[in-house]
Amino acid sequence: MELRPELVSDPVDGYTALRQEGPLVRVTLPGTQTPVWFATRYEDVKALMHDPRFVRDHRKLPGTNIPNLGEEMLAAYGLPLEYTEYLTSLVVLDGPEHARLRGKVVRAFAMRRINALRPSIERLADALVAELAGRDRFDLMADFAYPLANKAVCDLIGVDEGDQEQMCDWIRQYVSGESPEEIVAGLEGVVGYTKNLVKRRRDAPNGDLVSGMIADPDHTTEAEMIAMIFLLINTGHTPPVLFLSSALLTLMDHPDQLARLRSEPELLDNAIQELLRYTTPVTIGATAYATEDLEFAGVAVHRGEAVTYGLLAADHDPDRFEGPARLDITRTQGSGEPHLAFGGGAHYCLGAALAVMQAEISLDRLLLRRDSLRLAVGRDELEYACWPGEGNHLVRLPVRI
Ligand code: HEM
Repeated sequence: MELRPELVSDPVDGYTALRQEGPLVRVTLPGTQTPVWFATRYEDVKALMHDPRFVRDHRKLPGTNIPNLGEEMLAAYGLPLEYTEYLTSLVVLDGPEHARLRGKVVRAFAMRRINALRPSIERLADALVAELAGRDRFDLMADFAYPLANKAVCDLIGVDEGDQEQMCDWIRQYVSGESPEEIVAGLEGVVGYTKNLVKRRRDAPNGDLVSGMIADPDHTTEAEMIAMIFLLINTGHTPPVLFLSSALLTLMDHPDQLARLRSEPELLDNAIQELLRYTTPVTIGATAYATEDLEFAGVAVHRGEAVTYGLLAADHDPDRFEGPARLDITRTQGSGEPHLAFGGGAHYCLGAALAVMQAEISLDRLLLRRDSLRLAVGRDELEYACWPGEGNHLVRLPVRI
């Protein structure tokens, strides 16, 4: 079965039929051809995230007929395969190799370090809102969410202040480029800058994340550092921007919930968790491959077959969340078993705390301290683009305040 982009991005009706069909359903993801086993039920998705019989690193499975979905997605974007090197980082590694690399940056994401970023993110959010309030209309993604996410992740990594705007332009070009040339130019911009940054920090370390990786006694290769920084820059922008825009839209679509949040702002943290469950911007997880012929939830999976899971699907599973199609900002997620918007297991989102902090600052400034945020176009005029392997994503969010 071919997963259409509209289905992948539809939290309410998209996955009901698939969930009923079975624990694993054979599908092709939007824009790709390699068949993949797809899990949509909450318990199965969680089990897959922890199942060591599946690996993400395709190189661990030598064999002539084993399809490489990762390479197919690169090709779908028009990216030459030589760029795989820059994209080979945490998300596609397993076991000790993954743990070794993750250990090199995990300290930068400690709560204390994230909290230290708060004042500068707040200052930027205030300045942006003050400036944008004077405009007739603006794009909430390009003019607010991107600059904010960019500031947060660039400060976290150690991108010099004077270079941060350029970094934002490159990553937007990479994420939203309309031709392979544009996408490659964005990627090369980030990679070229990163190589230079590593060289500068080698000569003069300053205690930032890059200096930390260089100083690590367990040697990090140049390629590992570049791929890691590229991953952090990419994940530091795309999901937070998508989440903020879809969270705002969702609240605008649910005026009763928005009114409740305004009258009880102490619900904001809980509302963010519910919005994460409800809109889950990373709709589909990474691909893994079966290392042996095996049985998963009663389904026979052969060595080398690709498996992935629907995070949005799991977060709308009625067996786990009562009335999942209902947005309820007072919903309790249940301790230890929350929504899966940040994934789970060894690959749990490194930037979850940073993302929540950004959302909290943004929703507070945009929706709670003022009540004037409105769409500047009709709800049905919003534009979406389909990303290979992922589905539809909002391209811009024209609003006024
Ligand atoms: C609302 C915003 C965000 C959402 C919903 C989100 C979601 C996710 C999900 C679902 C995964 C796991 C994917 C999988 O295993 O298949 C993930 C991994 C990751 N995220 Fe996030 N993310 C967000 C923001 C961020 C931010 C701000 C950063 C910071 C730079 C970040 C960095 C990462 C990294 C590095 C990984 C890979 C971890 C690993 O493989 O060990 N994310 N994220």
